[in-house]
Amino acid sequence: MEEEIYSLELNVAVRVVHMACLLCRSVQKGLLSTSTFDQFKSKDDNSPVTVADWSVQATVSWVLSETFGSQNISIVAEEDVQTLSKPESAGLLAMVVSTVNECLSKAPRFGLKSPAQALGSSEVLEAIGRCSAAGGPVGKHWVLDPVDGTLGFLRGRQYAVALALIDNAEVVIGVLGCPNYPDKKNWLVKHEQHYHVMPELPFSNPGMWEEGCILYTRRGSSEAWMQPLVHGDNKLVWPNSARLVRVSSIDDPALATFCEPVEEANSNHSFTAGLAQTVGLRKQPLRVHSMVKYAAIARGDAEIFMKFARAGYKEKIWDHAAGVLLVQEAGGVVTDAGGQPLDFSKGMYLEGLDRGVVACCGAKLHEKIISAVYASWDSSNL
Ligand SMILES: *[C@@H]1O[C@H](CO)[C@@H](O)[C@H](O)[C@H]1NC(C)=O
Ligand SMILES: *[C@@H]1O[C@H](CO)[C@@H](O)[C@H](O)[C@H]1NC(C)=O
Repeated sequence: MEEEIYSLELNVAVRVVHMACLLCRSVQKGLLSTSTFDQFKSKDDNSPVTVADWSVQATVSWVLSETFGSQNISIVAEEDVQTLSKPESAGLLAMVVSTVNECLSKAPRFGLKSPAQALGSSEVLEAIGRCSAAGGPVGKHWVLDPVDGTLGFLRGRQYAVALALIDNAEVVIGVLGCPNYPDKKNWLVKHEQHYHVMPELPFSNPGMWEEGCILYTRRGSSEAWMQPLVHGDNKLVWPNSARLVRVSSIDDPALATFCEPVEEANSNHSFTAGLAQTVGLRKQPLRVHSMVKYAAIARGDAEIFMKFARAGYKEKIWDHAAGVLLVQEAGGVVTDAGGQPLDFSKGMYLEGLDRGVVACCGAKLHEKIISAVYASWDSSNL
């Protein structure tokens, strides 16, 4: 009965992440059509990404609570409810409540239940507030990043909705919704090159890229699946329309593509450039926002993802859990820069992470990168 483990959890997670992706997309459409996306540099209180963040968190929390019982569920998520509860956030809260209700009203299309009547502010706040678990080594914890990749979202580029289930410190389910990830192989590279050349071009031809997919997996299955996002008012037909994905089989560094964060603040680009040279990587790095980098490795669109944050930065579990499991089950390897597995047992941070994260399509490339880290580290000031 091994196969049956976590099947309800996976089923609900895929469906609710799907709904969340469409929620993000509709919030983003409003944002991009106003052509004001450049005003929103970060998560200030009224930015659309804030609306999407809260709304996804409330939606996912509500659906998980309906399915598994609100008393009996632990959710670790990025947003805490304090800001939204303040009187001065009333306008924002109203937007969130209406976004959540619009999203939940479509739940039957995704094989889930809608609320009997529209949720009020207090129910939405309650759903968000339920996501304040701390995680830890024991028991089941859902881990959610409602909108991973704030800048990607605001710029109409890559962002993700990430939901994972951790059971006794092991990630057992990973679901990664990638609303802007082109369905066709190699299109991510084209997509990102397009923006690399024309970074100010705001999503000029949405239909061209707007395909989107959800990647999902279960620990020990040795399989990762991709479900295209549904379009228009269609019903989700799943799992019949999902297909298997697999990591790339390239092991020659000269042919490998490596991904890294777009923002220099999130990873040291000159350090990875040095590593790339040592290992013999020839291609330009593919700089992508959000956990879509993990999706690119799991789908076989790139071979390596490296991230070296500044000293003292602590990686959060919700930024990695779903992506790590996807890459592993799709046939890849993920460790810290010392070659050790990431430790999801210590609460909301990846405590004890050695220097950075290295995800590869296979062991051979992975070993080369890890030894190059050892060789380069002492000569850098990271
Ligand atoms: C709560 O969760 C535990 C462990 O997952 C399970 O055994 C129990 O049946 C659940 N209780 C309810 C009320 O859902
Ligand atoms: C980035 O790495 C380079 C080369 O390894 C190093 O010289 C530099 O100090 C690092 N920058 C930061 C901000 O850590």
